[in-house]
Amino acid sequence: MKHLISMLDAKDEIYEILDLASELKDKQKKGIMHELLKNKSLGMIFEKSSTRTRVSFEVGMTQLGGHALYLSPKDLQMGRGETISDTAKVLSRFVDCIMYRAFEHKVMLELANNATVPVINGLDNIEHPCQIMADLLTIKEKKKDFNKLKLAYVGDGNNVCNSLILGSAIVGMDMSVGCPKGYEPNKEILEKAKNIAKSEIEILENPEDAVKDADVVYTDVWVSMGDEKEKAMREKLFLPYQVNQSLIENAKKDCIVMHCLPAHRGKEITDEVVDGKNSVVFDQAENRLHAQKAIMVKLMSHV
Ligand code: CP
Ligand code: NVA
Repeated sequence: MKHLISMLDAKDEIYEILDLASELKDKQKKGIMHELLKNKSLGMIFEKSSTRTRVSFEVGMTQLGGHALYLSPKDLQMGRGETISDTAKVLSRFVDCIMYRAFEHKVMLELANNATVPVINGLDNIEHPCQIMADLLTIKEKKKDFNKLKLAYVGDGNNVCNSLILGSAIVGMDMSVGCPKGYEPNKEILEKAKNIAKSEIEILENPEDAVKDADVVYTDVWVSMGDEKEKAMREKLFLPYQVNQSLIENAKKDCIVMHCLPAHRGKEITDEVVDGKNSVVFDQAENRLHAQKAIMVKLMSHV
């Protein structure tokens, strides 16, 4: 793995990354030092807001003995017209890895193509691989084995859904997406996933059918960053796709409920479900730290 732009970049190393994440998590919980990235620096460019990604990367680098820099395009010369390719070349002379949260996937690729250090996709309009690494770690912890599991994603076929489809295909977990017509996941991603998957991938319009007998029920916001202009329309259209108690009753009794957060309570998920006994959303959020530490160690120290 040279960069982590798509879940597919981690296809051949996924179990190594998950095992390393569990090992680093265990060490951190026991207070055992694990400074595997001593004196390394991570540059983090955020074009969009972030709580989890920013804090987990920054704290992760500190725990690994390195250092992270938060870089906002409005303070960088990028905001005044310096090209993304020049920015990539210059940052590569200073830092050991670049994490980028971008509006456009094609700009993400341009940064990666011009950087001489590894680039990590911290979310763009097409994928959110770091989130899905943490999600897979969470599912593995809660359900032990991906085989024979069914994950149901309900809502917008967005970046998180796209990366989940690839992640499920890689680990062999069946996945069912319940979404309105016109809001299906990315076609190319679906094709790529179907090419590698030994598991099932189905796209349905009815949320109850999607959730039927699911082991994992997952949702995300109806209005992603960048989609704000469609807020009123989306909030009406997606209403039948709310993850509430009556919807999760279609899933297995011991299903886990996941959300990448931030949650819009009362919209895509109710308080009752997000705070309910099946919810693992805060364990999932914590796992961003452990999964990303493993990703950074893999990319920066070639372990
Ligand atoms: N889930 C996630 O990426 O959260 P942030 O937007 O807070 O980073
Ligand atoms: N789909 C959401 C995820 C936020 C972590 C967005 O892109 O805004």
